[in-house]
Amino acid sequence: MSEKIVLTGDRPTGSLHIGHYFGSLLNRKKYEQEYETYIMMADIQALTDNWEKPEKVSKNVMEVAIDNLALGLDTARTTLFIQSQIPQIAELTVLFSNLVSLNRLKRNPTVKTEIEQKKALFGQDAESLTFGFLGYPISQTADIAVVRANLVPVGADQLPVIEQGQEIIEKFNKIYKNEVFPKFEAMISNGSRIKGLDGNAKMSKSLNNAIYMSDTEEQTLEKIKVAKTDSENFISYDPKNRPAVSNLVLIFSLIHDITPKEAVDMLGSIQYGAFKAKLGTDLNTHLKDFRERRKELASQPDKVKQILREGIEKTLKTATKTMDLVRENLYISY
Ligand code: TRP
Repeated sequence: MSEKIVLTGDRPTGSLHIGHYFGSLLNRKKYEQEYETYIMMADIQALTDNWEKPEKVSKNVMEVAIDNLALGLDTARTTLFIQSQIPQIAELTVLFSNLVSLNRLKRNPTVKTEIEQKKALFGQDAESLTFGFLGYPISQTADIAVVRANLVPVGADQLPVIEQGQEIIEKFNKIYKNEVFPKFEAMISNGSRIKGLDGNAKMSKSLNNAIYMSDTEEQTLEKIKVAKTDSENFISYDPKNRPAVSNLVLIFSLIHDITPKEAVDMLGSIQYGAFKAKLGTDLNTHLKDFRERRKELASQPDKVKQILREGIEKTLKTATKTMDLVRENLYISY
């Protein structure tokens, strides 16, 4: 049997932080040991809710590429590419859109939640909801199908998008008979369980509560030093009652690849000052190699672009083969 193929994507809309790192980036080092891996900068998908800010998306394509490469990925095993450079994805999106009803799109829980969160963009009752945003699960299915992926790492919140994609592929294979596409499955990463350094939200730029992959050692120490705790001055893992402290314990446990409970046992009766200093130092030690590679890559944009160009070329070859098959089955190869 041939090797399984993994495809995952990142929307390049902002800097990646340690929540992304521990939740998904780190796994990518493991995938390439077992699978042929594709990592896609989902710039077209990012434009579905950033169409007015194309420069921002473009700038973040480079940033996200650098964050991925700084993991020390083996580019012979992992192919990085940019969604917008693969026109076959757009072609497949159009063809797949015949296989999904408008009602089914509107029912997708992930998309529903996102629309709800984007009132500023799509209006109070989604009265200005775009065709493009509502349909992004179709284009995401095309991302996966174009490289004939079998495994798709995503956060748990993306599961309904993957399920919708599985329906599309099932329908396609049933109608056009020749099993053009392999079935695929989600691989749920334990996600960014890390909360903001204020303990009660996600890490995000607007809340100024995140440690970014591009932060320096000094910035990291400072951010942890001023991270929210409570008035108790001892540590425990109790996310419900002590979210801020528990979040710091969680970060510590992820660094050391142990459970939060084990972290508490290991740290004993440590007080906040000493704990924060240790956490900051340990995080800096853990990220040392990553940061060195990141710095080097950031100073060589031409090298990064060359890696992306090679990835795009390789993906185009695969995408062309896929489209040949699709065209044959749809009687559109003339
Ligand atoms: N929607 C995904 C997210 O927000 C990003 C993404 C785009 C993706 N295309 C993909 C993930 C294809 C997996 C496969 O995280």
